[in-house]
Amino acid sequence: MAPPPKPPPARKLLCMCSLSLCLTYACYSLMGGPGDRRAPLAPQAASAAPPTPPRLRTPLASTPPSSAPSSPAPTDGGVAPSGPEPPAGPAASATPEYGEKRLPQALIIGVKKGGTRALLEALRAHPEVRAVGTEPHFFDRNYHRGLDWYRDVMPRTVEGQLTMEKTPSYFVTTEAPKRIHSMAKDTKLIVVVRDPVTRAISDYTQTLSKKPDIPTFEVLAFKNRTLGLIDASWSAIRIGLYALHLESWLQYFPLSQMHFVSGERLITDPAGEMGKVQDFLGLRQVVTEKYFYFNKTKGFPCLKKPDESSSSSPHCLGKSKGRTHPQIDQDVIQRLRKFYKPFNTMFYQMTGQDFQWEQEEGAQ
Ligand SMILES: *[C@@H]1O[C@H](CO)[C@@H](O)[C@H](O)[C@H]1NC(C)=O
Ligand SMILES: *[C@@H]1O[C@H](CO)[C@@H](O)[C@H](O)[C@H]1NC(C)=O
Repeated sequence: MAPPPKPPPARKLLCMCSLSLCLTYACYSLMGGPGDRRAPLAPQAASAAPPTPPRLRTPLASTPPSSAPSSPAPTDGGVAPSGPEPPAGPAASATPEYGEKRLPQALIIGVKKGGTRALLEALRAHPEVRAVGTEPHFFDRNYHRGLDWYRDVMPRTVEGQLTMEKTPSYFVTTEAPKRIHSMAKDTKLIVVVRDPVTRAISDYTQTLSKKPDIPTFEVLAFKNRTLGLIDASWSAIRIGLYALHLESWLQYFPLSQMHFVSGERLITDPAGEMGKVQDFLGLRQVVTEKYFYFNKTKGFPCLKKPDESSSSSPHCLGKSKGRTHPQIDQDVIQRLRKFYKPFNTMFYQMTGQDFQWEQEEGAQ
């Protein structure tokens, strides 16, 4: 039970609170016996096969993720150009040969199943943003390849354009804050967060769709269900301990350099959330109300690129309700809500934002 690493002096109070959270966490992790450490059934830890990139833009992101090929650097085609909309301005060109590759100035670092793909796609509608379509996984899996490799993965940009990428596992990667800081200490960091209980269920559902034989959610979530002991070492649960993960980012980056997007509001009010993201990135307000429309069949808002030909299918900020979540026992959900509550409260304090996940509780 190691105490959290040295906090910046100004955060002593926060730290004392989070120390107690750490202890709570450690107890949850350790009770049930140290020999009981589960092999990583966790979706993102199961690295036998690298996860396929989301196929929302099949024609663009047709190559495998950059971690798959053994060639040291993917070709330019391994990286989707930032959407069908060419950058604005007379100098801009749709040809990938134009401009220069740069290291990213802003990253979407998490969280898995939070809505990072939706955010990235909405940002790519902005002419001053160019982003990698696949997840480079540089600061976790591919760090040994070096910064030149990383830069080569990036799309070309012209003056005034922002280079971005998203890899949701960065947020829970211990080494990522230090590594990103050593690349550029002014890197802007965006985290899309969502109620950790629905996030965990969504995470499990995704794994289940790939590996139908895994145990039930209830079995994986508890060390001992009779005792109500949550298994916080299961990644589906662990990822949602946002306060603990955030603490390691705050060792390297000031809060002002981080922006937290509500995954819930990204769906209920996409233009509002995008407004704040564009402000944070210092971008003109381009992606506004008129970029979104609500598709009733899908039950989600979808992106509308104003000058895009109608041939390509639109990107929606959520999947159609095709992938139904398994029915989870209500008492399990209640137990999980209780488990997350102190961590959520801590997270609200650390970020100065109330994400109102407790209201989901009322809806149960
Ligand atoms: C759970 O805890 C109860 C009460 O201590 C115990 O009887 C039971 O054997 C435990 N179950 C497991 C799977 O460890
Ligand atoms: C809405 O979504 C449905 C289901 O995916 C799709 O078939 C339909 O074309 C979409 N409508 C619009 C206007 O995008």
